Amino acid sequence: MTKQLAKDGLRLSALARAVFGNPEVKDAYTALLGSLRLSAIQDYKKTILITSTQPNEGKTTVASCLAITASLAGQTVLLIDGDLRRRGLASAAGVTDGVGLTEILEGEAEPEEAIHPVELFEDGRVAGTLSIMPAGRRPPEILPAIDWSRARSTFRAIGERFGLVLFDSPPILAANDALLLAGIVDGVLLVVDAGAADRRQVRRAKEQLEPIGTPVIGAVLNQFDPKVHGQSSQPYRDYYLARS
Ligand SMILES: Nc1ncnc2c1ncn2[C@@H]1O[C@H](COP(=O)(O)OP(=O)(O)OP(=O)(O)O)[C@@H](O)[C@H]1O
Ligand SMILES: [Mg+2]
Repeated sequence: MTKQLAKDGLRLSALARAVFGNPEVKDAYTALLGSLRLSAIQDYKKTILITSTQPNEGKTTVASCLAITASLAGQTVLLIDGDLRRRGLASAAGVTDGVGLTEILEGEAEPEEAIHPVELFEDGRVAGTLSIMPAGRRPPEILPAIDWSRARSTFRAIGERFGLVLFDSPPILAANDALLLAGIVDGVLLVVDAGAADRRQVRRAKEQLEPIGTPVIGAVLNQFDPKVHGQSSQPYRDYYLARS
């Protein structure tokens, strides 16, 4: 494992500065992390898939900010690029997009080859431990042929080494990828764009997840604007966690 730096100007370090420098955002994500733990009080959910019904609802942003906040709080966090269609987490973190999730799913690489610790801040201040697993080199077409029960054991074992494992993913209604990945995680977090999401589509996504047996452990209402969507009863303006 090589230690790499999430350089200034790249998205992950910029997000880390935004989370670190903005108490309201940090508090919102800390509350979200706490709520995820509460929702899983009987059965701690360590590996979580972040998805949504449509593109651009904020999945990658929420996954990254959750990972950053957990790592700032001292957790060891692995953030996985599970979006094989719009892969970008690795470059956002300053990591070469080489061997990654697809090679691990195919059983062609060892986890060590695909996990890259990154430093969020150049000066080393408040450095939490955050690792990135790139999407890998193989196309999304390989997914239906994966041995998912073996993949589940592999990611269980990887999960033993981390306090929290977060999978970013493509939208549920665009492709089956997120539903397949949902089968190897402990819980699913749905991101819902307050302005764009369609209630029926969210319900349909939940129905598609049900037979998989992995619980939807929460939903984040993103891009919430009280001027447009009405006053929230929640203490945080932009994020709202609803237990399902
Ligand atoms: N709460 C927010 N406030 C302001 N901008 C946001 C917020 N959440 C996301 N964005 C912006 O919206 C855009 C889409 O966000 P993001 O890439 O996280 O969505 P996504 O669901 O991962 O999209 P895709 O389906 O393409 O993977 C980005 O430019 C991001 O910076
Ligand atoms: Mg994304």
